[in-house]
Amino acid sequence: MSGKTINIAPSILSADLLKLEEQVKAVSENGADFIHVDIMDGRFVPNITFGPNIVKTLKRITDIPLDVHLMIVEPEKYINAFIDAGADILTVHQEATVHLHRALQSIKEKGVKAGVALNPATPVANIENVIEELDLLLVMSVNPGFGGQKFINRSLRKIEEARILLDNSGSRALLEVDGGINVETAKSVVKAGADTLVAGSAIFSQRDFVSAMKSIKASGEEALSDFA
Ligand code: DX5
Ligand code: ZN
Repeated sequence: MSGKTINIAPSILSADLLKLEEQVKAVSENGADFIHVDIMDGRFVPNITFGPNIVKTLKRITDIPLDVHLMIVEPEKYINAFIDAGADILTVHQEATVHLHRALQSIKEKGVKAGVALNPATPVANIENVIEELDLLLVMSVNPGFGGQKFINRSLRKIEEARILLDNSGSRALLEVDGGINVETAKSVVKAGADTLVAGSAIFSQRDFVSAMKSIKASGEEALSDFA
């Protein structure tokens, strides 16, 4: 395993935007490891969300690292804008850029952690040649674009493959999973080798969303201790 701990990254996509400050502060003060920010452009995915300004605004209300997931075409055009806004981890999709290596380098050059995300249909082998550049590998376990979708079971095989690839390369990149994560799927993905869990609807659809977040993280940690 690259990390001996499990990170939980609540996705604000499912937060109540009218209570965003309150909800982000609540998760930040109660054990969130990252705040996951989903940026969608209506082209790479069939939905539109936020721009760099949300990152800048979140930065004013939390010290927790901002994990910015760019679901946009030609992400290289916006890398600087998101870094200037305060992204701590910036993840681009492999499918969204022709020059993945260059995109990752330009993120790292600015001292920001660089991630690559893979859609469900994309093989893990597609990032083999950029593995040295990675601080985070994000395996999508739903097709990106919306919160509240069902976990794709086939993702477990991909997480296992990703774990092997990272370990064999001596990479210390985080292995993050995003989509359909709840108390049950958290266990399965951690057993498959993930260490970082994004969860949106399973957290923010609950009245007591802080407990929901803690339960998902605890469930992942329990699965980790099962095979430690
Ligand atoms: C989906 C986003 C996810 C989303 C996950 O395109 O990348 O981060 O917020 O939502 P849940 O946890 O509800 O599947
Ligand atoms: Zn995401």
